[in-house]
Amino acid sequence: MSIPYLKKEHDMTRLYVKDKPFYARSGEIHNSSSSSLEYMEERVWPALRQLHVNCVVAPIYWECVEPEEGVFDFTLIDGLVEQARREQMHLVLLWFGLWKNSASTYVPDWVKHDQKRFFLVRSAAGQSLGYMGGRMRIISPLCQEAVQADARAYRAVMRHIREIDEAESTIITMQVENEIGVLGSARDHSAYADQEFVKEIPAAVAERFGVSGSWAEAFGEDADEQFMAWHYGQAVETIAAAGKEEYPIPMYVNAWLEQYPWNPGSYPSGGPQFKMYDMWRLAASSIDFVSPDIYVDHYRDVCDEYASKGNPLFIPEVRQNGDAIPFYFYAVGRHNAICFAPFGIEDMAGAAKALDAQLLAQLNIAPTALQTDASAGRALATAYELVENMEELVQRAHEEGRIYGFLEYHDKGTTIKLPHFNVKISYGMGGFGPFQPPKQPGEPVSGGFLIQLSDWEFVIVGSRIRVGIEAKEGSRKVAEIERKEEGRYVDGVWKRGRILNGDEASSDTTIGAMPEALYFRVFEYEA
Ligand code: DGJ
Repeated sequence: MSIPYLKKEHDMTRLYVKDKPFYARSGEIHNSSSSSLEYMEERVWPALRQLHVNCVVAPIYWECVEPEEGVFDFTLIDGLVEQARREQMHLVLLWFGLWKNSASTYVPDWVKHDQKRFFLVRSAAGQSLGYMGGRMRIISPLCQEAVQADARAYRAVMRHIREIDEAESTIITMQVENEIGVLGSARDHSAYADQEFVKEIPAAVAERFGVSGSWAEAFGEDADEQFMAWHYGQAVETIAAAGKEEYPIPMYVNAWLEQYPWNPGSYPSGGPQFKMYDMWRLAASSIDFVSPDIYVDHYRDVCDEYASKGNPLFIPEVRQNGDAIPFYFYAVGRHNAICFAPFGIEDMAGAAKALDAQLLAQLNIAPTALQTDASAGRALATAYELVENMEELVQRAHEEGRIYGFLEYHDKGTTIKLPHFNVKISYGMGGFGPFQPPKQPGEPVSGGFLIQLSDWEFVIVGSRIRVGIEAKEGSRKVAEIERKEEGRYVDGVWKRGRILNGDEASSDTTIGAMPEALYFRVFEYEA
């Protein structure tokens, strides 16, 4: 049996686990949850059982793995793996090493205390930087001592994971660090970084981008960010390559996205935002893909961008409110995402308390993105179960180009043009077509996906939508529904519920907040 690997086929990248494609219907747990195996037992696993996840995205911490330099402790990793196996779930592990949300808060104390050996990122005025009023310091990615120390620890972790998990593949992918980049300045102005910044750019960068001279000469306005992306990329390369020498399962980095106020430093400068994609690919070739953490409203654009240039869509963090359900359907239907994981997933079964508003302001995350309730959890569990039971169908449909994902975003609906008729989808559940009542504040967006089953049949999965049929433009025929069924797939086979006729047939069909699957057969006749 192979260890987990990525494979490009049918114009897509798939993650293979135990030699079969694997799609992570997942959730990322809160940052501190996996630091206590007891807490996991009492609070997290019971919540996860309700949510129909098949994989958990969970942090592991350098400060716990190497409390004394060169002395390793894998108790938490072993316990987590054991618990996940018992729950029949897989794990994506997040290496909280040198950087977590830009800052170096998860480094062991012996690193924290030695700012000479492990030097910090500095502002142009020479101050150390970081969010929460500068309290969260950032170790410089140009500090080789620090990068080598992290790489030694990560190597030890990956060696240990190979020993305990090579035969089982409980752990399927590793995230290296978390949302890295400089917060508070566009670049590092430590003495060493300043010296490097004015030097000639590396030959590989010159060749890849067709530029020359110093960083400022080569990249103009973007110089600070490109310089940081190169150095963070190189640091991550050192760390990831050491880990891969021990156990080469897929590895990725995640991005705190660019957003208002848009200047590098208001988001972590030099992180794997998509505009830095080419630099990251060059600097960190041991990294298999880059991932977005999506809390912004323009979710659809972010997915479309991160699913381009051959990069597979893998979403390790996303809103945990009701938007998560249509977001999931779009990720599956449009991009065949490898992983979808609302952040703070245990909250969706009512397990934890809300994050502090001051923290969320620092993280530039709207509080509503992380407000959830048990009804969103039930809807997510339903969505995950629906898709799990039709996974084969979804895969064949992607291979044959007959699946269409859709998501509300600045519009009232969409029309999917199938060869013989069109399917009109209105977003929202009241009103008709363009006459939708305005959304209530906090009301989740609408979305879903449609799979064409044959010339005249399709199945649609979604939430908060109305579905209607119309003839092709210019046709003199009328398209009508011959048969409409509620139902769901069970192990890949459609099991119908009610046949929707009579009152239920006469108007557009509505799917409410709770996700559903509907089957349609259409026919046409001369008007
Ligand atoms: C993004 C980070 O990557 C997570 O670890 C966590 O801090 C969330 N933000 C909080 O919402």
